[in-house]
Amino acid sequence: MRRKIAAGNWKMNGLAASLSELEQLASALPPHAPEVIICPPAPLLFRASETARGSAIHIGAQDCHMQDSGAFTGDISAQMIADTGATHVIVGHSERRAAHEERDRDIRSKAKAAWAAKLTAIICIGEALEDREADNTLDIIAGQLAGSLPDGMTATNSVIAYEPIWAIGTGKVPTLEQIVEVHDFIRTKLTIRYGAEIADMIPLLYGGSVKPDNAATIFQAENVDGALVGGASLKSADFAPIIMALAQS
Ligand code: 13P
Repeated sequence: MRRKIAAGNWKMNGLAASLSELEQLASALPPHAPEVIICPPAPLLFRASETARGSAIHIGAQDCHMQDSGAFTGDISAQMIADTGATHVIVGHSERRAAHEERDRDIRSKAKAAWAAKLTAIICIGEALEDREADNTLDIIAGQLAGSLPDGMTATNSVIAYEPIWAIGTGKVPTLEQIVEVHDFIRTKLTIRYGAEIADMIPLLYGGSVKPDNAATIFQAENVDGALVGGASLKSADFAPIIMALAQS
């Protein structure tokens, strides 16, 4: 059985007062909830880890540098993230690929740095609208998988998040058929590269405008093991129903 995961990416949102959302979420979770991961902005990692301690919530960062330490002003290493008590890190989010010109090989290095620090990497991929419209989605996904995933991937050290860029923050969600097509394709590519035993266990998350009212539909797909949620993860009242929908899927 693959584990189910509901991950929340707070992006550049949240101050110390937002930690009350974490407390509320922790108390709203059912006893056998799926794995829940909250990725707050870096300044909150330590306090979020303290707040979540003893609850079913794991804490993750939104990015890490590929080096352990050194002259990289403003950057944060995977070791530093682990040192806060966090257990996960998102790498290769499309917003970082776009705004920070991160390339597949950078993301591969970041994933390896995450593993070295014993963090689980949530590796993001996804096509742009022009790729989708030109019918290039699967070629783009294949290229990102080949370039961004290191050798040695397992279900313990990694999670993959498929986030079509045109669905992020737009309220536009692909059809269930489109989600199924890409997730099945990813599973096939993982099987070819890592073997069925490993590939079958790696959680595949869908991300892009997941909300309480569409989550149950998205979670019907066999190869969708959960979601990476942006806007709807900021409030416990929105994220808790998504977690419930996943628990019931
Ligand atoms: P939204 O859920 O706000 O569309 O964001 C998705 C996302 O980018 C999560 O990483």
